[in-house]
Amino acid sequence: MNYLIYTYGCQMNYSDSERMETYLEALCLTKAKSEKEADIILFNTCSIREKGEQRVLGKMVDMIKLRKKNKKLIVVITGCMVRKSSSRYSEKRDKLFNRSREIDIALRIEELPKLADLIKELDPKIKLKKIKEETLEDYFHITPHFTSKSQAFIPISTGCDKFCTYCIVPFSRGREKSRPMADILKECEEFVKQGGKEITLLGQTVDSYGLSIFDKQEGTFKDLPKGKTPFVNLLEQIDKLYSKGLRRLRFTSSHPKDISDDLILAHGKLKTLMPYLHLPVQAGSNSLLKRMNRPYTVEKYLGIIKKLRKTVPDIAISTDLIVGFCGETEEEFKETYDLFKKVEFDFCYFAQYSDRKGTYASKNLKDDIPKKVKLERWHAINELLKKIVSKKLPKFIGKTVEVLVEFEKAGMLHGYSEHYKEVQFKGPKSIIGQIVQVKITKATQWVLEGEITK
Ligand code: SAM
Ligand code: SF4
Ligand code: F3S
Repeated sequence: MNYLIYTYGCQMNYSDSERMETYLEALCLTKAKSEKEADIILFNTCSIREKGEQRVLGKMVDMIKLRKKNKKLIVVITGCMVRKSSSRYSEKRDKLFNRSREIDIALRIEELPKLADLIKELDPKIKLKKIKEETLEDYFHITPHFTSKSQAFIPISTGCDKFCTYCIVPFSRGREKSRPMADILKECEEFVKQGGKEITLLGQTVDSYGLSIFDKQEGTFKDLPKGKTPFVNLLEQIDKLYSKGLRRLRFTSSHPKDISDDLILAHGKLKTLMPYLHLPVQAGSNSLLKRMNRPYTVEKYLGIIKKLRKTVPDIAISTDLIVGFCGETEEEFKETYDLFKKVEFDFCYFAQYSDRKGTYASKNLKDDIPKKVKLERWHAINELLKKIVSKKLPKFIGKTVEVLVEFEKAGMLHGYSEHYKEVQFKGPKSIIGQIVQVKITKATQWVLEGEITK
């Protein structure tokens, strides 16, 4: 049997898909080169905005065509759109089965080890290899099939306890739980042993690592050295892998409520920690932040930025922002715009508010900003971001930056600098995966260009 995975959404899903590959191959399935060759197609979905869900449901039309040629095709939906692991024959099925007749299996990603049983439920005759019990206890015990040899995304926690009023994640991913430090370190060590150079730690709010209600109930982190947050303890342990070849450490996302002074100071101290931080602000108005249930103020956010820049003056800072949230007035939007201008973010992932069923905002607030206004505000932030980037990128011209070479496109090699700036340059494909020195000669709107010096 051949499998094909389509991945949507954030890095968390891309990382889950890497574990999914290992699991499927352990069942003796082979990666298909195209849809036509696949016997099982898995959609690892994102539900952060309505558009993302529609995209996946739109793909179900293609499944009808494929099924005409391969009657035994199995269609699996996993990731953030799924609430209940079930097959089309299960007694209690996920609600997704009402949205498309093409779905055979809905799978909660943390229940990945259940997939084999769900396939058997569809067709008991399908032959699958048995997998060791201990691997199946926890889907994090499945070693990921890292897509890149030099760069890995490693989850340190799942779920979220913050319940921002607009967000579906606490419902799709459940309560916040941290992975044991020993498991994370083992995965990092393994990756570095195989030549890995850059690790990005993943979690919805990485800086609350080890501090969630679940973590406290379990008591897993109670024996850590005091005086530092569990997250900084973890960063310090991973930083020791420098001696084994690790060169870069990043993490995403941090939360302004949880960011601690020891984490800010770690940026000035740890050898592998890059001069880059992603710190989602979501809005630049205190009344909006309150409606969003983001428990900090603009003043507190600015205070964090000030401390960060005092510790690492040239640190690059990116953020997430939502425009057109329920009741967003012109004045509130202007405050967001002004904050953006003041901080001069290096990058921003920004979106127009999309109502998500089940969230507090969907139940209690009105999605009353007209589409046209949402779009205008989106464009205003986009123009501002472009202006800031056009001012910041040319400052690198003439400087030499370190780049981890990641891929080749249209005859140019691409990679990211320490400040997470995309850099392109000419060079042999054989250096993909290596860290090289590049002298910057030009800045386009989003990408730096240069020449290899070493
Ligand atoms: N945990 C991160 C944080 O606290 O910022 C964010 C994770 S969320 C998966 C990624 C981003 O999606 C959010 O930062 C937010 O900007 C955006 N987002 C979440 N819900 C949204 C919604 N209903 N409409 C539009 N954008 C949304
Ligand atoms: Fe969503 Fe807020 Fe949790 Fe981020 S912190 S995942 S925005 S609920
Ligand atoms: Fe989407 Fe789930 Fe990530 S909703 S953004 S894939 S955590």
